[in-house]
Amino acid sequence: MAAGLQGRSLISMRDLDAGEIMAILDLAGRLKADRQTAQRRAPLAGKTLAMVFQKPSLRTRVSFEAGMTLLGGHAIYLAPTDIKLGQRETTEDIALVLSRYAALIMARVFGHDIVEDLARHATVPVINGLSDFEHPCQILADLLTIRERQGRLAGLRGVYVGDGNNVANSLMFGAARVGMHFTVASPKGFEPRPEVVVQAREMARASKAEIRVVNDPAAAAADADVLYTDVWASMGQEHEAAQRRAHFAGFQINMELLRHAKPTATVLHCLPAHYGEEIDYPASRAPNSAIFDQAENRMHAQNALMLLLAGAAEGL
Ligand code: CP
Ligand code: NVA
Repeated sequence: MAAGLQGRSLISMRDLDAGEIMAILDLAGRLKADRQTAQRRAPLAGKTLAMVFQKPSLRTRVSFEAGMTLLGGHAIYLAPTDIKLGQRETTEDIALVLSRYAALIMARVFGHDIVEDLARHATVPVINGLSDFEHPCQILADLLTIRERQGRLAGLRGVYVGDGNNVANSLMFGAARVGMHFTVASPKGFEPRPEVVVQAREMARASKAEIRVVNDPAAAAADADVLYTDVWASMGQEHEAAQRRAHFAGFQINMELLRHAKPTATVLHCLPAHYGEEIDYPASRAPNSAIFDQAENRMHAQNALMLLLAGAAEGL
């Protein structure tokens, strides 16, 4: 099943089946436990990752770039002002040109259709480094972190408090695949789109995961094994930030909300955090918070993903 990933793209968590997710997490775990072997073998030596950004980034840029360094390859950062995606030339031409230089392409874009277009036209694997609709690399790191902290994924109760955004969508798809029950608690009008929930529920049929959308964060948090949140206003929605603050009041992970969850509940946030909004500082630093493991795990999960897509994971 891991061999089946070679040459493919990762645009959506829907692209991966449960076995493929586990293969990525298992390899990520081995790479994390033993950095020396991968570094010595340099499995991506001579290979380049082209990183296309339409939006800002700390973790995505640095984790991919540091990951390529560790695996013996090289990453090129293409800032929003460099290629001017959608303005200077067609997405098709960008995909075809980058494919002549790079072994892998990673793209962070506004419209999900842009990263789909890149993947359609590229002749090398394309990785979605966040679109307005999904953030699959984040969810691979999240699942790795949850498994590290909780020892398993299937049967856990995951709760996401906040905006029904790209991260929430990918979390629902990922949870559905691995059999983690998942509840999204959003203010009315900010829930994930109904068709996305329907799709996640269809995907969850095989794994028996229960996917729910509710409007009460405290009730949702009851007995949670995982409490997750993300910013109230995503990149591209900055102009809505003030208005959203009013709608999202109460949709915060704080010490009070944590009291509703299991004492062992893992606190997660994909970061960047807006302390005092979707999470307060004490909860972010609580003993069960794994937010910085989560950030580190971006690199290990993506390294595993890149090795499998590039067909370079043998012996690791
Ligand atoms: N979590 C995440 O994707 O962070 P960046 O936006 O900093 O890349
Ligand atoms: N939902 C956030 C995630 C940032 C990593 C955004 O799209 O801005």
